[in-house]
Amino acid sequence: MSENIEKYLSFVSETVAQSTLVKMTLSKPAQKRDDLRNIYVKPVLIKEKRLFAFTYHYERRDEVKNYDAAQMLDVLKEMLPNRFLNAVLFTVDSDITLLVSSKGKTTIQTKKMQECREQNLEHDKQKARLINPANPWWYQLGLTTREGKITADMQHKFKQIYKYAEIVESLIKPMKFGGTVHIADMGAGKGYLTFALHELLTQRLNLDVDIKGVEIRPDLVLKINEIIKADNLKGLEFVESSIDAYHPEKLDVLIALHACNTATDDAIASGIKAGAELIVCAPCCHKQIRQEMERSGKVDAITRYGIFLERQAVMITDTIRALILEYFGYKTQVMEFIEMEHTPKNVLLVGKKMSRKPKDSTILQQIAELKTRYGISRHYLEALLPMQ
Ligand SMILES: C[S@@+](CC[C@H](N)C(=O)[O-])C[C@H]1O[C@@H](n2cnc3c(N)ncnc32)[C@H](O)[C@@H]1O
Repeated sequence: MSENIEKYLSFVSETVAQSTLVKMTLSKPAQKRDDLRNIYVKPVLIKEKRLFAFTYHYERRDEVKNYDAAQMLDVLKEMLPNRFLNAVLFTVDSDITLLVSSKGKTTIQTKKMQECREQNLEHDKQKARLINPANPWWYQLGLTTREGKITADMQHKFKQIYKYAEIVESLIKPMKFGGTVHIADMGAGKGYLTFALHELLTQRLNLDVDIKGVEIRPDLVLKINEIIKADNLKGLEFVESSIDAYHPEKLDVLIALHACNTATDDAIASGIKAGAELIVCAPCCHKQIRQEMERSGKVDAITRYGIFLERQAVMITDTIRALILEYFGYKTQVMEFIEMEHTPKNVLLVGKKMSRKPKDSTILQQIAELKTRYGISRHYLEALLPMQ
């Protein structure tokens, strides 16, 4: 390492030690074709800890990573002069610039400020955006143009993705995780919501994640894993498996959105068995209970009308799911996922694991009453769990 680079890095470390760093920029890529255009560094306070937020500006996306002081210096050592030929360190009272010529000659220039600058330790406002359509995976998944503009026929889907991200953020943000967050997204399909989840958790909430998209269709799994690899996304992988055969060793959050019919039950059972802290599912086609109700021949004033039988079957299926979650100690909410105009499958069941004593027998009674009233011999989810 050249003497000037060493000297420059020691300026950085002094500034960090004295807490006088306002911001820093790295620019002028050493390789013209480098996709990484520049880096912007600023100090931030996260959970009372002083860290350094590095915003990596790539050709078509931004990525933010937070480092402590030692990690920051390691990254700078990697970047100067191999990736960038200019660096400016803005301290409270001076600008210190490093210039590297094309022949590798290094110069340091220091300019004292007339007035002291203020530091702003707030988290970067740029991160206020939940999902950034300019990220390359949205193009690769077919939602945007190459320039990151959402295509006309994907506007609805994107609204759904955004709403989902808002809900998931409100659920996950208050939770405490002691390290990597293990998540399974069961019946992940084309991956839109799985990528949204990964983007939200890693880029906005700065969490370390291990997200598995569980999907039965091998063609989708192959395609999505290629996108993940191309974008070098850490902590995201699609696994070819049926939901009932997938038994994660560690699971903090279980997601199952629009997994068909009883696949939702398989997912809920897997979440309960693995002791997931949070279970979020948007059920889909409720055939099992409807068929039982039809077979029983029991009709009441509501279910004698075909369309209401259908709707009642949906409500009973999901009510029993919610009750079973409660029975296993999950405080359960049923909420609207997204307005009907975007998808008719708009109910979200959210179970949060509580410390309270599970297995309240009055819940079993409520389930039994519902089943008797509607001629249901069993709810598929009951058979998957130890209900006594
Ligand atoms: C309607 S899509 C939903 C995709 C995504 N979760 C969403 O909401 O946009 C349901 C996906 O679940 C997959 N699937 C259905 N049953 C499954 C099962 N038992 N095991 C694994 N995947 C399943 C289907 O192949 C399909 O891709």
